[in-house]
Amino acid sequence: MLNTTTIKKDFPIFRNQQDFVYLDSAAMSLKPRSVIDAVEAYYEQYSANVFRGIYKISEKATKIYEQTREKVAVFINAKSEKEVIFLRNSTEAINLVAYTWGRTHIDKKSEIVTTILEHHSNFVPWQQLIIENGAVLKIINIDESGKLILDQVGQIITKKTKLLAITYVSNALGTINPLREIIKEVKRKNSDIIVLVDGAQAVPHIKVDVQDLGCDFFVFSGQKMLGPTGAGVLWGREELLEEMSPFLFGGEMIKEVYLDRTVFADLPHKFEAGTPHIAGVIGLGAAIDYLTQIGMDQIRLHEKKLYSYAQEKLRKLDTVVLYGPNSQEERSGVILFTMKSAVHPHDVAQILDELNICVRSGHHCTMPLHERLDLSSTIRASLYLYNTMDDIDKLVKGLQRVDEVL
Ligand SMILES: Cc1ncc(COP(=O)(O)O)c(C=O)c1O
Repeated sequence: MLNTTTIKKDFPIFRNQQDFVYLDSAAMSLKPRSVIDAVEAYYEQYSANVFRGIYKISEKATKIYEQTREKVAVFINAKSEKEVIFLRNSTEAINLVAYTWGRTHIDKKSEIVTTILEHHSNFVPWQQLIIENGAVLKIINIDESGKLILDQVGQIITKKTKLLAITYVSNALGTINPLREIIKEVKRKNSDIIVLVDGAQAVPHIKVDVQDLGCDFFVFSGQKMLGPTGAGVLWGREELLEEMSPFLFGGEMIKEVYLDRTVFADLPHKFEAGTPHIAGVIGLGAAIDYLTQIGMDQIRLHEKKLYSYAQEKLRKLDTVVLYGPNSQEERSGVILFTMKSAVHPHDVAQILDELNICVRSGHHCTMPLHERLDLSSTIRASLYLYNTMDDIDKLVKGLQRVDEVL
């Protein structure tokens, strides 16, 4: 296990919130001192705009902003930092692809394939696209354990399929999709298919290698991986990004502007119109340093052990129903459950909150998945590197309290 006593000392929130059990990192991770310091240092010491000034603090801001791009490229094993685009979050990154690549390549004869596990962010943009242009959206289903039915993958792909939009890790069931195998099979059936991976729940928790996965686009959000809000990433293969037209137009994304035409900037700046979230990106760089120093393999191991402990304790409790794959290898540290007594998830979350335990209740932006599970609402407790077995014990006690009260 990770040394959580030391780790917790790195997160000021644990000093400011007494007896605080934070189990909602799938929505938003806590921030270590080093990330807060990096953001503060930018605002206090060199808060100039990037790319524009030829004075020292602007050059420093540009340098550190661009260093984060290099850090991201190494962190996900991109071929080049030109392939790393800074945007607000995963949602914006998926919309960028849907608007630029999607509206150029998807027509009414096309098929888009996605899965029932998707967060609304990797579903609604594609649904909107097919409503606009008459393409077909096909969905890969899950089995009773919450894993994708892999046989359906090969069957659903046709010569008309242009895109597979798929999550790496489900934010609700915690399922880790065997992406490498899926992408290999999909490309074997139709080598022209473009694969977009939603990595929002993967990058914070497991080692990601975009080249090894064999995908074409990959998106993730800084706020779920110890970084500030408002700084996320779109990674795309350079050849694809080169041929795509910009999403937003204006300053920063141009080389030359004339009254009758504009020459756009080279990658990656072509897709970063306007002043970016400089402090957020710099904070993301500090978050990557922190995660790298702890080690992604260690984080994954820690979460696996914690989930295993939680699974055992919750099963013994016998008042909850757990959802998602059983095996630690096939799942992340997201604990999704309902109460056997049919107590409403919002009531459970509220009682837990009275005990200072933060969990999420609702559909977790996966309404189609909840419909598939025949549930309107569930409770989600999600783990990260600062969580402990003591947190799980407190959750279990809290759930006993729920049963006493309701
Ligand atoms: C799997 C997944 N995809 C996409 C998103 C959307 O992320 P953001 O709100 O940062 O755009 C989330 C957020 O919870 C998520 O869990």
